[in-house]
Amino acid sequence: MRPLFFTLVLILSFKNLYAQSKTNPETIREKMQWFADAKLGIFIHWGIYSVKGIDESWSFHNKKISYADYMSQLNGFTAKNYNPQAWADMISDAGARYAVITTKHHDGVALWDSKFSDLNVAKKTPAHRDVLLPFVEALRKNNVKVGTYFSILDWSHPDYTGFLKDSSRYKIKDDTLRWQRFVNFYHNQMNEMVTRFKPDVLWLDGDWEHTADEWRSGDLREKILAVNPKMIINGRLQGFGDYETPEQNAPVTRPNYKWWELCMTSNNNWGWQPQDTFFKTPFEIISIFADVIGNGGNLLLDIGPKEDGTFPPEQINLLKELGVWNRKHSEAVFNSLGGIPAGHFYGPTTLSKDSMTLYLFVPGKTASSIVIKGLDNEIKKARIVGTSTLLSPKVVGKISWSPVPGILYIDLPKTSLDKYMTVVALDLEKPIKLYRGRGGFD
Ligand code: GLC
Repeated sequence: MRPLFFTLVLILSFKNLYAQSKTNPETIREKMQWFADAKLGIFIHWGIYSVKGIDESWSFHNKKISYADYMSQLNGFTAKNYNPQAWADMISDAGARYAVITTKHHDGVALWDSKFSDLNVAKKTPAHRDVLLPFVEALRKNNVKVGTYFSILDWSHPDYTGFLKDSSRYKIKDDTLRWQRFVNFYHNQMNEMVTRFKPDVLWLDGDWEHTADEWRSGDLREKILAVNPKMIINGRLQGFGDYETPEQNAPVTRPNYKWWELCMTSNNNWGWQPQDTFFKTPFEIISIFADVIGNGGNLLLDIGPKEDGTFPPEQINLLKELGVWNRKHSEAVFNSLGGIPAGHFYGPTTLSKDSMTLYLFVPGKTASSIVIKGLDNEIKKARIVGTSTLLSPKVVGKISWSPVPGILYIDLPKTSLDKYMTVVALDLEKPIKLYRGRGGFD
């Protein structure tokens, strides 16, 4: 039994490593560079669930509404005020470098005219067209990278195993041919989608219902990369993606993955829901954003249009304010590196690529002075980003014979503070060097 078991474990682990190891790490690093520099993406959840304003797909799965009632929303999806160029402009004005839009959610309703399923908005709704292509083209025109969300699980498909939360159609082991039919379907449909839109990021979802072997994740990755070897695949393919995707909650300590992206709603739901008025404020979003980039990640901020293609004013305002802040603080945000470890400064930090400038993020309303410990560098200049204000750091407790750097105190003039987050830049004479000892002679 034992040798057999170990052989099995070995085979399985090699299988999982296979796809990743086929691409050399340098190629992956190169293809991930724009993503690492991008920092901000906008997520869009648009689908028939915005007709009644209910949970995307989950509402029928969790039996809050019958399947028939859920699908009756097809008749109300009009896209009649949809202006894809205005969407793309709003996204680029927010400072986002990429956008990810739902092409098919767990309900199986495709937003383009798929030849693999009639369940799509072109064939089954008054919108009567592929609503995605013009948006993809508008994004490209605005120089914003394109991401396409695709749910690999499909609760509507007759050959898919799962349906409602407490009932499934069948078990794979009882009908492997049926499962194979589903796998062929979803591989083909995804291939059609990526060939049509040529996304820079493929944002998969729903992998939790099956294993990598069942999904044929390795084959899928190869097929996708055959369409475009530079396509970035998110981490929801049971181990075959390129980056991690924590959802809704920002990591408290810095994750040790190389690339990650926090996806987060702007209120409490992904799609449009009229009763959900719990919008995060611009300050909250900006401080979360600072925290995320300080920890080396990206923020993928979600907005949810109504069925007609218009957005709630709160979301429009949020993106507008974010854009103003991003333009003012661009040098500290885009193309930056995650900052210094916690303990040196009470707040998020980033670094310029050459590590010659340290950026410190402080809430504009409450800040009056900041403190930095263990910075073993001469400061050439201290300034408030986006203003002409220069600052005068005071070094406290630097003992001439000790290798331990002093503590920096910097007063911030009230008149130069940003209404959301102020960013202080410290231009250093050499790449940053941190003292992380115990305060003695070490
Ligand atoms: C979850 C949900 C899905 C949502 C997605 C966004 O996986 O199932 O409804 O679209 O998160 O990240």
